[in-house]
Amino acid sequence: MIKILFVCLGNICRSPMAEYIFKDMVKKRNLENKFYIVSRATSYEESGSDMHYGAKDKLDEMGIPYTKHKATRIKKEDYEKYDYIIGMEESNIRNILRIVGSDNQNKIYRLLDFSKNPRDIADPWYTGNFTVTYNDIVEGCNGFMDYLEQKNQI
Ligand code: 4NP
Repeated sequence: MIKILFVCLGNICRSPMAEYIFKDMVKKRNLENKFYIVSRATSYEESGSDMHYGAKDKLDEMGIPYTKHKATRIKKEDYEKYDYIIGMEESNIRNILRIVGSDNQNKIYRLLDFSKNPRDIADPWYTGNFTVTYNDIVEGCNGFMDYLEQKNQI
């Protein structure tokens, strides 16, 4: 079982989108029994909130299923619990490290570091552009899936 934790600042836009997009990719490959996938925030700003309506609208448009979401902050213990802790931008990585301490088992990654064009994923809470965010997340998730294949983990 590969345990994956997607992380962003608020856990209402990017990381839940990544969670549901990656779950959909896994389902389409019939690999559901190999993965455990969740998402978390680095802040308490939106704790308890459902996914942002802009994120839900984009997932609806693209036919990606999702369930009721409840924004939750990452805990220090999560570092031991997950195999991959994947942030959306560099500031997420810094915040994750502040919470978990250190990355001595090399579990922490930035999503688009799995793509051919490593970069941050912009926060649609500020940009309002859920399409750019969606496309970036799909690119990163595809790169991550390829990485797992190359490492013979799936
Ligand atoms: P996210 O977007 O990190 O992609 O979920 C944000 C949502 C809420 C806040 C910041 C970012 N906030 O500060 O409330």
